[in-house]
Amino acid sequence: MSFKDQLIQKFSDRSAIIGIIGLGYVGLPLAIRYAEERYTVLGFDIDPAKAEKIAAGQTYFKHIPNELVKNAVENGFSATSDFSRASEADALIICVPTPLKEHREPDISYVTSTMDSLALHMRAGQVVSLESTTYPGTTEEELKPRIEQAGFKIGVDCFLVYSPEREDPGNPNFTTSTIPKVVSGSTPECLEVGTALYSGVINQVVPVSSTQVAEMSKLLENIHRAVNIGLVNEMKIVADKMGINIYEVIEAAATKPFGFVPYYPGPGLGGHCIPIDPFYLTWKAREFGVNTHFIELAGEVNSYMPRWVVGKIAEALNSQAKAVNGSRILVLGLAYKKNVDDIRESPSVEIMQQLREQGALVEYCDPYFPEFPHMKRYRFDLRTREFSATTLKTFDCVVIGTDHDLFDYDLIFKESQLVVDTRGRAREHNDRVFRA
Ligand SMILES: NC(=O)c1ccc[n+]([C@@H]2O[C@H](COP(=O)([O-])OP(=O)(O)OC[C@H]3O[C@@H](n4cnc5c(N)ncnc54)[C@H](O)[C@@H]3O)[C@@H](O)[C@H]2O)c1
Repeated sequence: MSFKDQLIQKFSDRSAIIGIIGLGYVGLPLAIRYAEERYTVLGFDIDPAKAEKIAAGQTYFKHIPNELVKNAVENGFSATSDFSRASEADALIICVPTPLKEHREPDISYVTSTMDSLALHMRAGQVVSLESTTYPGTTEEELKPRIEQAGFKIGVDCFLVYSPEREDPGNPNFTTSTIPKVVSGSTPECLEVGTALYSGVINQVVPVSSTQVAEMSKLLENIHRAVNIGLVNEMKIVADKMGINIYEVIEAAATKPFGFVPYYPGPGLGGHCIPIDPFYLTWKAREFGVNTHFIELAGEVNSYMPRWVVGKIAEALNSQAKAVNGSRILVLGLAYKKNVDDIRESPSVEIMQQLREQGALVEYCDPYFPEFPHMKRYRFDLRTREFSATTLKTFDCVVIGTDHDLFDYDLIFKESQLVVDTRGRAREHNDRVFRA
């Protein structure tokens, strides 16, 4: 039997061992999903603390319950930092970070260093699937040569796949299995193997003709969001000047049953995807002499939002004859979106930083972060304030930065001296409640 047929057989009869490299927001739920379907799963992560937690059947993300990790471990999920064990796996699924460098260029060093580590331990008859978001061409230009240099023939004794992740942490309406998954292969044989790899755990696999199409489709999804959020943020500023409630405008427009998709304004983009991924395309497009005007304009509008919010806070304080300088300001919600413990690129933190630079005495309340976490660009020696009427009353201004469901909004609007709401939680605004 050919390597291709052997692999397809193993995925179909669940005897395949699934290796997942990078057990973060994407890798961990995927590992749990394979374990649910009774595949043996071997996770790899350079962070040994993750392997220890998994061995103890414990989660390290608040939105993923312990129970899920425990069940996965009972079904054969284990994790290690020992890359020499890569040879044990039939599939090597790469879910490592793809951030930006300081000057907003793609940093794919996590992907390439992972591939270099794996290549040392690969054997014939394996499939490598990259899931990290990246620019079109990464799979062919960066992974393929590394696998070939290790002595394999792609499509014959080793299979190369790109399948972008669409995880949406904290979204109660979709799970890993119910989100359709785009799959591509470096050769037609690779696509067949990739389709078999994911068909056992994903309800709908969507094959496409090349890895570049799959890579760019993921960028289009995220750029579509970035551009539309930029548009609605601009509309918010116009509506604010005109004294119109942008949320009511959006709700009215959204009653149109075709041709309109509602996007909501906010304090700026956050997370590991929407603020970052568009620049992967911008960078690659330059190689082809193309400028990505929409992407950059949306980036400009969205990255201005924290400053705009700070301006609104100043306006709100001013209405009570107070200055930002010396005022006690409480930011509710550190996470970049509600109901998750992910602070990456969170606009709340940028707002806190700008307020502090202007002399405010800033604190935060976010039960997802008992202590202000370690961040590369920001440092606050703070612990979360308890969410209570007493806390709310103590501050000159309370800013709703992230609208976690666990906050009591009636209490916020009743007890706070002044509220600046960046998430449209206030039903009405008045001399104590400002929209931003
Ligand atoms: N977070 C999301 O919602 C989301 C959604 C869709 C796509 N993505 C994409 O998926 C990829 C992963 O994102 P994430 O949010 O899971 O990142 P993450 O930071 O949560 O997880 C990455 C994991 O990889 C580990 N790691 C880093 N370098 C490694 C290496 N060389 N070998 C092994 N492990 C290594 C880290 O320790 C971490 O546990 C990114 O490309 C991201 O753009 C993320």
